[in-house]
Amino acid sequence: MRERAPKLEARLSDEARFFRSFFDHPRQIGALLPSGPALAETMARGVDPTAPGPIVELGPGTGVVTRALLNRGIEPARLILVEFDANFCALLAAGFPGVRIVRGDAYRLRATLRGRLDAPAAAIVSSLPLLNRPEPMRTALLTEAFELMAPDGRFVQFTYGLKSPVPRKANGLRAERSSRIWLNFPPARVWIYRREQV
Ligand SMILES: C[S@@+](CC[C@H](N)C(=O)[O-])C[C@H]1O[C@@H](n2cnc3c(N)ncnc32)[C@H](O)[C@@H]1O
Repeated sequence: MRERAPKLEARLSDEARFFRSFFDHPRQIGALLPSGPALAETMARGVDPTAPGPIVELGPGTGVVTRALLNRGIEPARLILVEFDANFCALLAAGFPGVRIVRGDAYRLRATLRGRLDAPAAAIVSSLPLLNRPEPMRTALLTEAFELMAPDGRFVQFTYGLKSPVPRKANGLRAERSSRIWLNFPPARVWIYRREQV
């Protein structure tokens, strides 16, 4: 069943919460507003819902990408959300029954997901503001992410930047990128990374 878009009033209050969180923790939140529907749908299209295994979302915030993943036909029980912010975790728990929510640090992914993955993940979908972290930390995150995924797993990431937010060749990855999504504020692009050799 298609997840209904939240009522305007609820959406406005989600946006107000997000905005407030940005002022409290700008580096962690990394955006003034939640992603728009065009960006969220492009992120979700990066996931193959028929690939077996859990799907991990990093940095779900108020849940706009989560909603797009559910609308893509992914069962709530397959989704594991990793979010650092306690207020967002409470909001997600209220809005997405049946989805597993882990309050923790996505940059310590193996430790954060310990005991939570019953099979290798099919995909990891990240809205983390990667460019606010040094490059070795981004590379370390992708290394752990690929270790937790099936051989043909995909790491889906959006960025407001002009280039890939992680070096591809050095990390043995190939990548596809979407066109720039001008309808989003700020405009963004989605990158899908896979292992070079499966
Ligand atoms: C740019 S917002 C994206 C929110 C939402 N997915 C969207 O697209 O609107 C980044 C999110 O990542 C979360 N985040 C940042 N650092 C994190 C970390 N180390 N571990 C888990 N979540 C983190 C923030 O709390 C925030 O919810």
